[in-house]
Amino acid sequence: MRAIVVSATGGPEVLTYTDQQPDPEPNPGEVLIDVAASGVNFIDVYHRLGRYPLSLPFVPGNEGAGTVAAVGEDVVGVSVGDTVAWSGVMGSYASRAVVPASQLLAVPEGIAAEVAAAVILQGLTAHYLTHSTYQVKPGDDVLVHAAAGGVGLLLTQIAKLRGARVIGTVSTEEKETLARQAGADEVLRYDGFADAVRELTGSGVHVVYDGVGAATFEASLASLRPRGMMALYGQASGPVPPVDPQALARGGALFLTRPALGPYVATRDELAWRASDIFGWVASGDLKVHISKRYPLAEAAQAHEDLEARRTTGKLLLLP
Ligand SMILES: NC(=O)c1ccc[n+]([C@@H]2O[C@H](COP(=O)([O-])OP(=O)(O)OC[C@H]3O[C@@H](n4cnc5c(N)ncnc54)[C@H](OP(=O)(O)O)[C@@H]3O)[C@@H](O)[C@H]2O)c1
Repeated sequence: MRAIVVSATGGPEVLTYTDQQPDPEPNPGEVLIDVAASGVNFIDVYHRLGRYPLSLPFVPGNEGAGTVAAVGEDVVGVSVGDTVAWSGVMGSYASRAVVPASQLLAVPEGIAAEVAAAVILQGLTAHYLTHSTYQVKPGDDVLVHAAAGGVGLLLTQIAKLRGARVIGTVSTEEKETLARQAGADEVLRYDGFADAVRELTGSGVHVVYDGVGAATFEASLASLRPRGMMALYGQASGPVPPVDPQALARGGALFLTRPALGPYVATRDELAWRASDIFGWVASGDLKVHISKRYPLAEAAQAHEDLEARRTTGKLLLLP
């Protein structure tokens, strides 16, 4: 099969394309999928760099959608020919992938496999952040960093669906336009955003969704109202240095959490609940999925370069 293989960690150039990768075989409980599209996520960059270490060599990619080609023993409820999507299982940068049946989600009729691949990981993330990490309520003030990014555009829309006022940050005018189209009420540049947030809100926001990390962390804390929630869900600009808990006291009894998707989809019921909301909103048109670029699988390195250079908006897909 065709695949991207990483044999040594490093820059985008370590994403090596091959059409000689042996086909994977499904073990009991697993399903073999012909991949229609694979989603590119920032976590793939961390894996490639070795920031989240994996044993080498590996096929990157945490998200995809496609058609079931074969099912292993003991698999029930999934049949050859079904359209399915998944996240959180490595190996999607390939023309075929093996995924545990327990992680698969049936893609409803009317939703294209590409759209499912584009929305599942970042959609589940935006869902748990707004429904569980902090339950966004009507009238809340919410700060979303990188509001035109993959997670950012979905977070903005879902926070609006829940009735919040969304303040987004972005780096360019093009990104500002996209964030506004997604429903952001106010859109700021990063420079001096904490002061601007105070001017807009008076006492600060109820929650900050910060996937940028090192570059924004301190000003994010300074943007919160007393007892506000800092959801540090990523580190696109680099890891945040150790934090003095007294900083949370000084900010007004703040909460700090570093959430990850796994613990928020730990049971099949929770995964199914979030996915059903996401697919439902996509089907009804309440959630728009912005696929900004599709790359041939062999150009995965270019996709990573673009993502790391902040040249992208919304979702990037690899097509095998
Ligand atoms: N915890 C979880 O469950 C979870 C799940 C999914 C993703 N994430 C995290 O969420 C974040 C966003 O992921 P994504 O895949 O949706 O990416 P993305 O937001 O589409 O891309 C990253 C964006 O971050 C902003 N950024 C600011 N400073 C940057 C820098 N120094 N280098 C690169 N980008 C910078 C850029 O937007 P501007 O140009 O507008 O600044 C850039 O477009 C990542 O940190 C990712 O790891 C976490």
